[in-house]
Amino acid sequence: MADDDVAEGNQDGREPGRRFEGRVALVTGASRGIGLAIARRVVAEGGRVVITGRDAGTLDEAVAGLGPDRALGVAGKADDAAHRAAAIARTVERFGRLDHLVNNAGINPAYGPLAQVETGVARKILEVNVIAALEWTREAVAAGGLRSVVNMASLAGTTSATNIGFYGVSKAALINLTVQLADELAPATRVNALAPAVVRTKLARALYEGREEEAARAYPLRRLGEPDDVAGPAAFLLSDDAAWVTGQTLLVDGGASVRAAW
Ligand SMILES: NC(=O)c1ccc[n+]([C@@H]2O[C@H](COP(=O)([O-])OP(=O)(O)OC[C@H]3O[C@@H](n4cnc5c(N)ncnc54)[C@H](OP(=O)(O)O)[C@@H]3O)[C@@H](O)[C@H]2O)c1
Repeated sequence: MADDDVAEGNQDGREPGRRFEGRVALVTGASRGIGLAIARRVVAEGGRVVITGRDAGTLDEAVAGLGPDRALGVAGKADDAAHRAAAIARTVERFGRLDHLVNNAGINPAYGPLAQVETGVARKILEVNVIAALEWTREAVAAGGLRSVVNMASLAGTTSATNIGFYGVSKAALINLTVQLADELAPATRVNALAPAVVRTKLARALYEGREEEAARAYPLRRLGEPDDVAGPAAFLLSDDAAWVTGQTLLVDGGASVRAAW
């Protein structure tokens, strides 16, 4: 192959390390934790970002850290239709476009075996973790020009998971939603998912606090995840580097899934 045949950088000429130049991403549930790490990555690679979360104060602090010229916060609940409409409208109003969506907001208010999960709580988990992801995606597509979606699933959606079983059920549904949407939205929009194991954030505290070293031993890579461990794979799947990848769920799990329990 002649040197001239080798494409430089990304397909559309963006420099390596500037994959989001001229692009706009909306990341739900991004005032802290994994979502904020993804938002930082998009901004670091030249993009602009809209982040959401329920608490306006935490969201404002996150926007200040990202740089108010490159970030916008819209406070609200991921499963609130009026909030979704406002967030998407303000994204287009402020930045003129919406290229990438990360359905990252997720909840786990139930802890214990399935026998103890209240039906109302189970419904709420499905509402936020699954239905809202479908709604955000449909509404973002309707805004026009959406190139890619990343859904934040979980390793718990691929196995049984002690004490967080119904959360796992919701994440399994999100994985299949990813497959289905990938097929239906192609070729205009790619849809992929990430399935992290335990990442050191507020949401997962109950799974490791006070027993971090012991918890880390379950991982061939010998540590729990950090939000940045998920942000890199998310940026890859959102970007044109993954232009021929859709409908996939990438396990980001320190190797946990390759080790047999016995
Ligand atoms: N940490 C892990 O071990 C792990 C593993 C696998 C998958 N995940 C998934 O990763 C995603 C992010 O979790 P995280 O660990 O980064 O949690 P986190 O640190 O607790 O952050 C959650 C973020 O989402 C916002 N949020 C929570 N509920 C929301 C709602 N109903 N509507 C809108 N925003 C909401 C929070 O802000 P407010 O509280 O102000 O709303 C916060 O910004 C979730 O989908 C989670 O299921 C996490």
